[in-house]
Amino acid sequence: MIKISDRLMVMAILVGNLKTVADIGTDHGFLPIYLNQLEERKKIILTDISEKSLNKSKENVYFHLKNRDAVFDFRVGDGLDVLEENEVEAVCIGGMGGFLIATILAENFEIAHSLKRIILQPRNGQGKLRWWLENSGFKITANKVVMEGKVPCEIILAEQDVNCKIDKPANLENYNRLTEKEKLKYYFRKEMMYHNGTSGFHLAISNLYKDVLIYKNLKKAKERNLEKEQIQLYKIDYYKKLIKEFIDSIKVE
Ligand SMILES: C[S@@+](CC[C@H](N)C(=O)[O-])C[C@H]1O[C@@H](n2cnc3c(N)ncnc32)[C@H](O)[C@@H]1O
Repeated sequence: MIKISDRLMVMAILVGNLKTVADIGTDHGFLPIYLNQLEERKKIILTDISEKSLNKSKENVYFHLKNRDAVFDFRVGDGLDVLEENEVEAVCIGGMGGFLIATILAENFEIAHSLKRIILQPRNGQGKLRWWLENSGFKITANKVVMEGKVPCEIILAEQDVNCKIDKPANLENYNRLTEKEKLKYYFRKEMMYHNGTSGFHLAISNLYKDVLIYKNLKKAKERNLEKEQIQLYKIDYYKKLIKEFIDSIKVE
């Protein structure tokens, strides 16, 4: 079995036993190799906008799977442009910003809505991505957090929201109209602390720590911005409450 990071491993696990998968922006191709070793698949499509990166994935596939399975298919292209509707059941998009991920899904909205599972690993902009998904006819069924070295990484599992009648992608610009308080609900979800071992807790503490630093710097600034300071205090309070609630939920009989 190829040795891959916990981040990629969790992405692979979220694909479950679906038989047809595409990894968009595959680069090294480690996730598809692992997906192939984990379960018998019918088709694994590796895509990248960069031909050089796709060639890297080809080399790795040939190296790790001596008798390369016929299931692998390599395609150079932008986002989901290289897929047909209903060609795969699951798509993985990892290691990109949340804005780019949402744009990739929005640009081929029908293909995105033909998928059973969408496994996303945003490097940043996770709040914007969650907002976009939930306002574009998807529901988020898992929010995972795994450590990559000292950095907590978030993985989102999105599925079709069958009760939702939305038939066009939300305009990403509208996210900027939300208040900072509203954005916070998309940025960090309470449940993330309860289903991810210590990683979710680590993420909450690290977000709290960042917000405290921002607050301290705002207070030191020559020209004070009281509105921003208030927002930071609200965020600090939000994390402190969630963390306290989580600690209080730990029962030792
Ligand atoms: C940081 S790597 C992530 C590799 C791997 N998915 C992971 O999570 O470890 C990002 C890759 O996405 C590719 N990429 C960026 N924009 C893309 C797009 N619009 N469509 C397809 N691939 C893209 C880049 O060329 C690069 O190889």
